[in-house]
Amino acid sequence: MTPSILRAFISLRMDSRLHSSSPIAISLLFLFSVFVWIPASICHDDLSSSCSHMFNCGKINNVGFPFWGVNRPRGCGYPGLELNCESSVTTIDIMNVTYRVLAVNPDTKTLKISREDYLTGICSPDFANTTLDPTLFDFGSGYQNLTLAYGCAASWISLLGQFTCPSPMNGTVQINLGVYGPGECEVSVFVPIPTNTIDVLKIWTLPTLEQVIRDGFEVTWKVDTAACSRDCRGSKGACGYDLQMNRPTCYPSPGTHSKFSN
Ligand SMILES: *[C@@H]1O[C@H](CO)[C@@H](O)[C@H](O)[C@H]1NC(C)=O
Ligand SMILES: *[C@@H]1O[C@H](CO)[C@@H](O)[C@H](O)[C@H]1NC(C)=O
Ligand SMILES: *[C@@H]1O[C@H](CO)[C@@H](O)[C@H](O)[C@H]1NC(C)=O
Ligand SMILES: *[C@@H]1O[C@H](CO)[C@@H](O)[C@H](O)[C@H]1NC(C)=O
Repeated sequence: MTPSILRAFISLRMDSRLHSSSPIAISLLFLFSVFVWIPASICHDDLSSSCSHMFNCGKINNVGFPFWGVNRPRGCGYPGLELNCESSVTTIDIMNVTYRVLAVNPDTKTLKISREDYLTGICSPDFANTTLDPTLFDFGSGYQNLTLAYGCAASWISLLGQFTCPSPMNGTVQINLGVYGPGECEVSVFVPIPTNTIDVLKIWTLPTLEQVIRDGFEVTWKVDTAACSRDCRGSKGACGYDLQMNRPTCYPSPGTHSKFSN
């Protein structure tokens, strides 16, 4: 409690002792404790404790700030960095595309992710490019874009290869290195593949291509985590994200700081 509230508290108590029959003093005291003191004291304690819980899901363990999700409430991480967990599989949505999270490395600030829609093959993806939110992520080094163009006329021949997909786009799928629009085809989608697989896979077979895409790629998160770790170190608090102020914040652990929200 801050001194002024303590003083008010004491004077109310003294007041109620002096005029013990005063119903006003007693109800004031009651209102004071219920509506002022209690809510103010629980708001940050709550987040400092819930944001100290780590995210665990299947093979992905011990993930904390800047991520939130499942047992880590909204204020525990950057709004765009929500992890989901279903049947022990961790996923993250980036620019409306769902990725499976294969690995998380907080030391290098890297996520290894793979497009969920391409896990079962190349034929029925969500027709969306592999685009990152530039405020949150960068591509890891050593990747290059590969364009898959769907619903192409059979006459058009690509350099890398072509495959036939039954649906939902009839016709052939053309594969090319780099970023291309659909051209003569219905729709094109680019995905990153490791540059070192390009030489190895001179002849693209469907299974090898699908495996390379399924293996995923690395992205680094570029949000600021150092400032909060610095603020939190002394207070044994938990890092989180202040959704009102739109910036990372430290929720101090109860007892180390004033219990009042500011
Ligand atoms: C994601 O999809 C929703 C609904 O379809 C749309 O309103 C929103 O603009 C999309 N966001 C991005 C980043 O594409
Ligand atoms: C793929 O192309 C997009 C659009 O040109 C670009 O933003 C992205 O950095 C490229 N990805 C890689 C891994 O080079
Ligand atoms: C693909 O072919 C089937 C049967 O030939 C046809 O019913 C369907 O409309 C075609 N789809 C597209 C996207 O052209
Ligand atoms: C993917 O990006 C290319 C190049 O910017 C664009 O032409 C194509 O339409 C995009 N594909 C989708 C599904 O938005």
